[in-house]
Amino acid sequence: MLPALLLSLLAGTTASPLPSRAPSLERSIAPRDLVAYTTDIQIHSSCNSTQTRMLQQGLKEAYEVASFARDYVRTNGANDTVFKTYFGTDSQAYPSVLGAWDALLSSNKQGVLLRCDDPDGNCVQPGWRGHWRGENGTSETVICDASYTDRLYNAAFCMGGFVLAETAPSLYWSVDLIHRLLHVPQVTYSAVNHYAANLGEVIELAEHNATLSPFDSDALQYFAAHVYALEVAGGGDRCIGAVGDHSHAAADASATTSAALACHTHSDGTKHCE
Ligand SMILES: *[C@@H]1O[C@H](CO)[C@@H](O)[C@H](O)[C@H]1NC(C)=O
Ligand SMILES: *[C@@H]1O[C@H](CO)[C@@H](O)[C@H](O)[C@H]1NC(C)=O
Ligand SMILES: *[C@@H]1O[C@H](CO)[C@@H](O)[C@H](O)[C@H]1NC(C)=O
Ligand SMILES: *[C@@H]1O[C@H](CO)[C@@H](O)[C@H](O)[C@H]1NC(C)=O
Ligand SMILES: [Zn+2]
Repeated sequence: MLPALLLSLLAGTTASPLPSRAPSLERSIAPRDLVAYTTDIQIHSSCNSTQTRMLQQGLKEAYEVASFARDYVRTNGANDTVFKTYFGTDSQAYPSVLGAWDALLSSNKQGVLLRCDDPDGNCVQPGWRGHWRGENGTSETVICDASYTDRLYNAAFCMGGFVLAETAPSLYWSVDLIHRLLHVPQVTYSAVNHYAANLGEVIELAEHNATLSPFDSDALQYFAAHVYALEVAGGGDRCIGAVGDHSHAAADASATTSAALACHTHSDGTKHCE
């Protein structure tokens, strides 16, 4: 009975005459060439099987951390204490942050590529773990050999005395790859950028000048690491440390100490370390 009814309804829909405006409507919705869409990030043939497997795992974990951050924002909203710590209290913050994570997760990754050779010759520089290729390959990111020996997987979040307030979370593959993907123009159409140079500046931005906080790469990374460390890794306050306690000097000092560990060059040639 129901299937038959549905069938006749569907048939009725298909057969129903188009409204008189149909010709112009038809033109405006005429099929366009479909853009190929994927959320898969390519791994270049310069990566051997070990590197490929490690990057695949890292990317999976980057999506895990990003998905958790998005779900956390969606669920807990803009009045959440952790949210306000990183993104402030501007009325636009909620949809902006949600949008930034959604863009990272669901933007078209067609052509987005990680590679293991060193075509720009940057990996020889001490402390370099990788870099966005900028004008030499706008959708390409080089991952340097050093990454494979000292980046950690999510299972090690909060392990070994890691404290978010003192150590850049790019120590973890997931957060490092989130950072690198945010540099690829098509991921957020360049909306996300660097407006703060370290955790202290991220907190300052949220407190005093929050308009750009949802679009700050470090604010997004630190927020994601914070909620993942607390809610998924179960690291508690000990894993977070004195974030937002106005102990900026301490946070800044340690950020500087680890600065040499995570440098990369931006399209305008400026070197960025965290
Ligand atoms: C892949 O490359 C790395 C770094 O050059 C090397 O240490 C590793 O042994 C290689 N793995 C395989 C399976 O060839
Ligand atoms: C968020 O907090 C503000 C300020 O306390 C309050 O006015 C608003 O109603 C809260 N919004 C929600 C959705 O809880
Ligand atoms: C792009 O290539 C040029 C020439 O090889 C090089 O000098 C420059 O540093 C490269 N840019 C990046 C971001 O690596
Ligand atoms: C706030 O951010 C804008 C845009 O980056 C900048 O021009 C301005 O100087 C900042 N204001 C303060 C008080 O930091
Ligand atoms: Zn960067």
